[in-house]
Amino acid sequence: MKLQDLIANAKMLVADNKGLLAMDESNPTCNKRFAKLGIPQTEEARRSYRELIVTTTGLGESISGAILYDETIRQQKKDGTPFIKIIIDAGIIPGIKVDTGAKSMAGHPGEKITEGLDGLRERLKEYFKMGARFAKWRAVIAIGDGIPSQGCIEANAHALARYAALCQEVGLVPIVEPEVLMDGYHTLEKCSEVTEKVLRTVFNQLYTQRVTLEGMILKPNMILPGLKCPRQETVDEVADATVKCLLRSVPASVPGIAFLSGGQSAELASARLNEMSVRFKSRLPWALTFSFSRAIQQPALEIWQGEESNLLAAQQALYHRAMCNRAARRGEYNSLIERKGI
Ligand code: G3H
Repeated sequence: MKLQDLIANAKMLVADNKGLLAMDESNPTCNKRFAKLGIPQTEEARRSYRELIVTTTGLGESISGAILYDETIRQQKKDGTPFIKIIIDAGIIPGIKVDTGAKSMAGHPGEKITEGLDGLRERLKEYFKMGARFAKWRAVIAIGDGIPSQGCIEANAHALARYAALCQEVGLVPIVEPEVLMDGYHTLEKCSEVTEKVLRTVFNQLYTQRVTLEGMILKPNMILPGLKCPRQETVDEVADATVKCLLRSVPASVPGIAFLSGGQSAELASARLNEMSVRFKSRLPWALTFSFSRAIQQPALEIWQGEESNLLAAQQALYHRAMCNRAARRGEYNSLIERKGI
């Protein structure tokens, strides 16, 4: 694939006020979410749930790309239609999570390194042949006593850059996801300081590994206080701090920044993205959008409960959340839209 096509695909993923749907939970993560709701943790239950998502009417109005997991990209609807065909027919670009998970990092207690580089080139080629046009790799950075360490930040940034270079070689747009976790007591200022350091390191590595910034998407956390921090900033303060941090650390040649939700409630994630659009949209060099998993899927999953009779209501909830986030990109999300839709 030519570089121009890669760049065009990256632009398409963040065009038209749409965003990404992350439906790439690994089997263990998906099972954990099912277990909490009493849904059976079987391949068939995961398949039915994915079918619910990909067959939601009108999803393509708000979703530009869907990130799949290895099991999901190979699955089919009950009638035998491959999920990937349904996604493409809905006008959604299929993507794939390609890291093999964050594992404990040797010599770095409490920290993780994301694995999956071995054999990656061959796996990427296979996914491209299957129809994927972008990929995702997630690194996790925890904040705590004496962490994150330089070693953890550098190793994860290096892996992200090696992955991104391989993706571009085979024609997949890399989604580069360095997630600074919300867990803990840290302040918003601390999150900003750590995120800036992580992003600067990631972009240094991307440069060293010769990644074309115009052909990638950044997927960062918003700048938030830890979940247990006594001071929880307002939506405006979060929007200000997030944009300030990104302006300091993300080159203007990156076409888009698609936030992860990281455990925020669905409504807060929409409200914070909306505030960034209202205040800054016309002044930013990159598109700001969403690449949420829980903040789009969770309400639908809770309605579905594994029951066929709840399917339509769950699909409506999924459609609604996707649409609320599209409204947030336009800076038009509000409580009325939240309650009644557009
Ligand atoms: O890697 C994590 C997902 O792509 C984003 O998930 O929005 O639930 O944080 P989240």
